[in-house]
Amino acid sequence: METIKTYIEENKERFLEELFDLIRIPSVSAKEENKKDMFRAADFLKESLLKAGADRAEVYQTAGHPLLYGEKIISPELPTILVYGHYDVQPAEPFELWKTEPFEPVIKDGKIWGRGADDDKGQLFMHFKAFELMNNTGTLTCNVKFMVEGEEEVGSVNLEKFCVDHKEMLAADVILISDTTMVSQELPSITSGLRGLSYMQVEVTGPDRDLHSGHYGGAVVNPCNILCAMIASLKDKNNRVSIPGFYNDVRESNEEERKEMGKQPFNRDEFMKSVGVNDLTGEEGYTDLERIGIRPALDVNGIWGGYTGEGSKTILPSKAYAKISMRLVPYQNAEKIAELFKEYFLSIAPAGVTVKVEYLHGGEAYISPLDTSEYKAAAMAVEETFNKKPIPVRSGGSIPIVATFEKVLGIKSILMGFGLETDTIHSPNENYSVINFFRGIETIPLYFKYYKELKNK
Ligand code: BES
Ligand code: MN
Ligand code: MN
Repeated sequence: METIKTYIEENKERFLEELFDLIRIPSVSAKEENKKDMFRAADFLKESLLKAGADRAEVYQTAGHPLLYGEKIISPELPTILVYGHYDVQPAEPFELWKTEPFEPVIKDGKIWGRGADDDKGQLFMHFKAFELMNNTGTLTCNVKFMVEGEEEVGSVNLEKFCVDHKEMLAADVILISDTTMVSQELPSITSGLRGLSYMQVEVTGPDRDLHSGHYGGAVVNPCNILCAMIASLKDKNNRVSIPGFYNDVRESNEEERKEMGKQPFNRDEFMKSVGVNDLTGEEGYTDLERIGIRPALDVNGIWGGYTGEGSKTILPSKAYAKISMRLVPYQNAEKIAELFKEYFLSIAPAGVTVKVEYLHGGEAYISPLDTSEYKAAAMAVEETFNKKPIPVRSGGSIPIVATFEKVLGIKSILMGFGLETDTIHSPNENYSVINFFRGIETIPLYFKYYKELKNK
């Protein structure tokens, strides 16, 4: 413990400077214009890994953005930890809402501000620095592999193939991921589950061009009006998804599980305040935390069509679009749900319009068992740095590739995340607590230590 603390103390400034260099690379995976930056970020991390003491590190081309793999194998007898993370970030828009430049990181109020500061550059880089620390202090207790992708924020579409093609290279005892949140610094938690995702895009077409809304309005179908009505009929009055078969594979949690979840502290008023609303609604019969953690949900992520510019333009639009996501729970299959959505959505289209439904990407939910050495090592490590036993929490977010890792590689993942709800990932003014950045770097070597000890038992 003392060696860890001393090493961090002596290298603090450099760790931050290096992280800042990484954040300065605008590796936005959704945008064609940032194609070069994806390579720059992957190369930066490759060099960083080699400098930190990796035996090898290599940037692999994929059909999409490059992927970094690196490793240090000290002995075939020792357990192997595969670290996964992503160097790609969400677009920074809307720029005008940022108080600082998104790709010019600064420290203020004990936080690092910038796109990717938490998700996932800050959290990923803790693993790089923890690895460096273990190497340079002779405390590396396990073999370690790194797999860092550049397409997480756009659905990890090429990573399954990479896993299939490199199964042997990726062989490990556990996958360790820091890309989630904890309840707070006072109440550390470990993510025990993630929701799955089916992400859809729909297009409704009416007339073959925009029409004068005075000459035609009232007699010709309006795709914007119709899309709204169709979306409205995706849920019933109890806020349950009305797609036939949607809940077929959902397993009800038993009372004990629900009671366990109920123990998690939750202040409804504070929660409402934190998001700026004065009431909360959701599926009838479930608590707010259950609606987020263990129940599926359907949300429109964006909707557009017709004239949305300045002032008014009197038209009856030709087309309307929406992006709709469904968060899934264990046993729901992403493709099957996408299929059910499509069938239903097409079936509710009235005459006069044509409807297209596209499945963009998705993945299954993930559950992490709590009674394994993999989880216990994380709980012990986090308890040591935060001076409090972490509680397991089911997250509403998704990292769809985690279920794929289990399916393709046969390896379970541990979601030891150090983000906070206040980090506003994906939003303007993303930030990451400096304290958690360093606590993370401190916790990871402890994970390695406890994991080896528990495995030897
Ligand atoms: N790191 C997040 C997921 C996350 C954050 C899970 C906090 C739990 C707590 C990840 O980068 C992410 O944004 N995932 C997307 C899905 C992806 C397919 C775009 C999400 O959850 O919306
Ligand atoms: Mn992430
Ligand atoms: Mn993200």
